[in-house]
Amino acid sequence: MTDLVTLEADLLAQVAAAADLSALDAVRVAAVGKQGAVSALLKTLGSLSPDERRDRGGQINGLRDRVQTALNDRRAALETAELDRRLAAERLDLTLPAPHVRRGAVHPTMQVMDEMIAIFATLGFAVAEGPDIEDDFHNFTALNFPPKHPAREMHDTFFFEPDDKGERKLLRTHTSPMQVRTMIAQKPPIRIISPGRTYRCDSDQTHTPMFHQVEGLVIDRNIHMGHLKWTLETFVARFFENDQVTTRFRPHHFPFTEPSAEVDVQCDRSGGEIRIGQGTDWLEILGCGMVHPNVLRACGIDPDEFQGFAFGMGVDRLGMLKYGMPDLRDMFASDVRWLSHYGFSAFAAPNPASGLS
Ligand code: PHE
Repeated sequence: MTDLVTLEADLLAQVAAAADLSALDAVRVAAVGKQGAVSALLKTLGSLSPDERRDRGGQINGLRDRVQTALNDRRAALETAELDRRLAAERLDLTLPAPHVRRGAVHPTMQVMDEMIAIFATLGFAVAEGPDIEDDFHNFTALNFPPKHPAREMHDTFFFEPDDKGERKLLRTHTSPMQVRTMIAQKPPIRIISPGRTYRCDSDQTHTPMFHQVEGLVIDRNIHMGHLKWTLETFVARFFENDQVTTRFRPHHFPFTEPSAEVDVQCDRSGGEIRIGQGTDWLEILGCGMVHPNVLRACGIDPDEFQGFAFGMGVDRLGMLKYGMPDLRDMFASDVRWLSHYGFSAFAAPNPASGLS
């Protein structure tokens, strides 16, 4: 009996002395684990007479239960202490001023796209998106480019290797294939814009091999050039937040529109910056025109019943003009100094209510 009293006192002292959870676990294993002191005691019962066994067995089990209870209590106490320690150590003073660290910014192209979408949304345009990798039909044929027409080459197209069927996919050279996809999928009246990436093998101050366009398409009965001109002039005035921006419509040729025009914005490019509303230079920002009857037909729309207009705007160029960046190539150079200078806060999403920029 005295051996049990000594052992119990010893084990309880060890439990009380365990300073942390891992020390406590070592005590637990040594005391009530499979190879522990209590198990060793229980193994000795086999050699006793039935009466002795009953007495001593009861005593050993009582000891085991008390040690186990002490272990549980100590564990709970240590866990609470640990939690209190962490809560104290990890406490944050939320009233301290946050350090001003600027982490990332919205790229001007994305900002400009959001601004464009916000403006056209107020004019009732929905947004449609389509693939960057196109086929010849959507990028050229359905848009009334004659087969072997030099315009296919004029676009400086990036072609892929021909596939098993001999078909050459390509990176879309403009967002106009979305006119085709939209007209095949929807019945008039149609009023959409389609923002996205476009690709041409070209690089100088105002050209990059990858750039962004927003396509516009309106198809209904009795749509005419007046609607086109009003829409574009309204857009330009709202985009530049300036009614005085001078634009000029120049006659042009696109296979998919007739008549066609290009629109330039007056600007000054003499200094290191580009400025609108002054100067004697012009920067082309978009192509437009009345959708060609052949395009309507290729998309299953009867040109005797419906007509409409389309336009394709250079998003990056509009950004250059609005935010005064002289070189388009800088936009995609990923220079963090340029990005932190020209980038926008992610919390300042453009919308017609709070303003565009
Ligand atoms: N797709 C033409 C281009 O990229 C622009 C355009 C779009 C012209 C729609 C007319 C109508 O140059």
